[in-house]
Amino acid sequence: MIKHFLSLSSFSQSELLSLIHRAQFFFQNQHRPEVIHHLLQNRIFANVFYEPSTRTRCSFEIAAKRLGADIVNFVPEHSSVKKGETVYDTLKSLESLGVDGLIFRHADDHIIEQMKPFLKLPLINAGAGKYEHPSQGLLDLLTLFQEFEILAGLKIAVCGDIKHSRVAGSLMVAAKIFGMQIYLCGPDSLIPEVNEPNVQKSDFDQILPEVDAVMMLRIQLERHENLDLDPKAYHHQYGMNHRRQLSMKKNAIILHPGPFNRGVEISDDMVEHSQSRIFKQMNNGVAARMAILEWTMKGRT
Ligand code: CP
Repeated sequence: MIKHFLSLSSFSQSELLSLIHRAQFFFQNQHRPEVIHHLLQNRIFANVFYEPSTRTRCSFEIAAKRLGADIVNFVPEHSSVKKGETVYDTLKSLESLGVDGLIFRHADDHIIEQMKPFLKLPLINAGAGKYEHPSQGLLDLLTLFQEFEILAGLKIAVCGDIKHSRVAGSLMVAAKIFGMQIYLCGPDSLIPEVNEPNVQKSDFDQILPEVDAVMMLRIQLERHENLDLDPKAYHHQYGMNHRRQLSMKKNAIILHPGPFNRGVEISDDMVEHSQSRIFKQMNNGVAARMAILEWTMKGRT
């Protein structure tokens, strides 16, 4: 069976917990090549990103290299995509060239599911449109697990452009699996209708004192056609800042998937505040993606 990593919804709670524990092992051993460097030796992955990325692309590359695998960075702008080659033909070509797994990001919500039946190698969702970003979901779970040791019952506020956020999409899937409560905050026009008992719309300032974590999201300007946004006014109404941090519980944490717009959804001083785990999330991204790459290759000859 080909082990695609496309959505957190295809995992049970115990399967996700195994991945989190494995990611924690990699987090603890990431600088011990004698322990981990042999695990994916002779494997070759391809990073195939049709949308820009810093964290996801680089962390998959570092994750692969730490496990002894090689990685090819396919860049559409410098490829035969410029001559009209389709996504299907590009992925089939990389498969024919002999890569063992495809790490794939695209602006289209559905293309990854459309490609899946035609590929004989694992496909890893590195961000699908505004639908899901499951490797980000796993690193977010790892970060929450390291902080609180238990996920069930955690209360998490998500604030910002939730409608266009694949990060929020994966977090809501994970929250359902683990029994976490999610509070959606931000401008009405950016909050989707979600019919899940553990998800509710909330006023950001009212819910902040009650939550264990707050996930701040940037406004995804690239997914809006017309958006009249005054950054100062937005920050005043929905931004994480010193005033709002003071209203949070002392052990509550601030998360953000990045990239962040300082002064818009988060003030400069909050990015590296003692309650912020934003750079910790990025570091955890390598460990989480090591667990994912290893998982996709399990049982594969
Ligand atoms: N969090 C995230 O997906 O960041 P990149 O777009 O830089 O990969």
